[in-house]
Amino acid sequence: MSLSELAREGERRILWADRHMPVLTGIRERWSEEKPLAGIRIGACLHVTTETANLMRTLKAGGAEVALCASNPLSTQDDVAAALNEVYDIPTYAVRGEDNQTYYHHINQVLDTRPAITMDDGADLVNTLHGKRRELLENILGGTEETTTGVIRLRAMEKEEVLQYPIVAVNEALTKHMFDNRYGTGQSALDGILRATNYLIAGSTLVVVGYGWCGKGVASRAKGMGANVIVVEADPLRALEAVMDGYWVTSMVKASTVGQIFVTVTGDKHVIDRQHFERMRDGAIVANSGHFDVELNLDALREMAVEVKEVRENVEEYRLQDGRRIFVLAQGRLVNLAAAEGHPAQVMDMSFANQALSVAWLAGQPRGSLGKQVFPVPEEIDREVARLKLASLQIEIEDLTAEQEKYLTSFDLGT
Ligand code: ADE
Repeated sequence: MSLSELAREGERRILWADRHMPVLTGIRERWSEEKPLAGIRIGACLHVTTETANLMRTLKAGGAEVALCASNPLSTQDDVAAALNEVYDIPTYAVRGEDNQTYYHHINQVLDTRPAITMDDGADLVNTLHGKRRELLENILGGTEETTTGVIRLRAMEKEEVLQYPIVAVNEALTKHMFDNRYGTGQSALDGILRATNYLIAGSTLVVVGYGWCGKGVASRAKGMGANVIVVEADPLRALEAVMDGYWVTSMVKASTVGQIFVTVTGDKHVIDRQHFERMRDGAIVANSGHFDVELNLDALREMAVEVKEVRENVEEYRLQDGRRIFVLAQGRLVNLAAAEGHPAQVMDMSFANQALSVAWLAGQPRGSLGKQVFPVPEEIDREVARLKLASLQIEIEDLTAEQEKYLTSFDLGT
């Protein structure tokens, strides 16, 4: 069968990403022999990108039967979906720009494969399983969750005692959030803003809303490019950290009057609301890089607008009654994946190595031996990913001497 042009382009880009994912490649090579996932059905709901394709290839090399759908309607790279289907024979249900109904139809197509392990980025698969597809719960051994927002949802389910199977919170591995959330989001959010607008960051006033790991990343990359960065934060410790990191920290209302570019990374709802749009300067650019498209109150903005039109790919102009224009990027969906390609492969290498090893860990646990809880990534996996990444970068680190080890674990060695 001849391949479509789209699939060929997808394959080229998948292999390019793979060159920059040495940890995952190493796991794939080992798994091709060991087959730790032999016969296990995996249903994944992740952003359909070149990096995800390499994760899917790794799971398949480990012996799993994999089906994939998108975890966001706007993040799918259609060439990657084509290559997964046509080149790698991995059923992939995703079309960029799909409507809500199609999005859930695709989730259900993945669930129809009766997976034993679920992989989520935002918990939509878990939610659907616990809602309309409860008959499938008895097949499930466990799952993984990629992102902060998903882990928050799952912890709430655990607390309410409605969670029906164990989930590994991949996001909580240090080799995930310290790198993916910070350096990944830091770079890719700005990449999305730049590809959408081609706006000069140097000398601009850029407001970062939320100073978690993602916010820290966006603030530091924007500062590095010459922006005057303002941080808006609700948590006192994080706000203090932002102050001492050298940012101007203020309220959203005050920031609204001076910002030229706004980036939300809070995971919370309507952090930019009507009262903030009312105060913004003409030409303000507003983007979201949090998982769901809830951070900007676009319904309010739509009500305030006399006209809404697309002025560039991924840029919508909202013209207000007083003539001011506000530019919203990627319909308020995560700008790094909707207007750019998501995080670079080098950083997804660590996140997805954690995913792969966590799936194998789950598969190795006797059925029913884990509680219906959210579990951390086992520490050995986290450290192994760090060790492998350093090795791939040919970076050497120190070995402690026996004397140094002893000193660090003693209490009686004083002055
Ligand atoms: N999340 C953020 N960036 C990503 C990428 N490149 N692939 C998959 N998920 C992502």
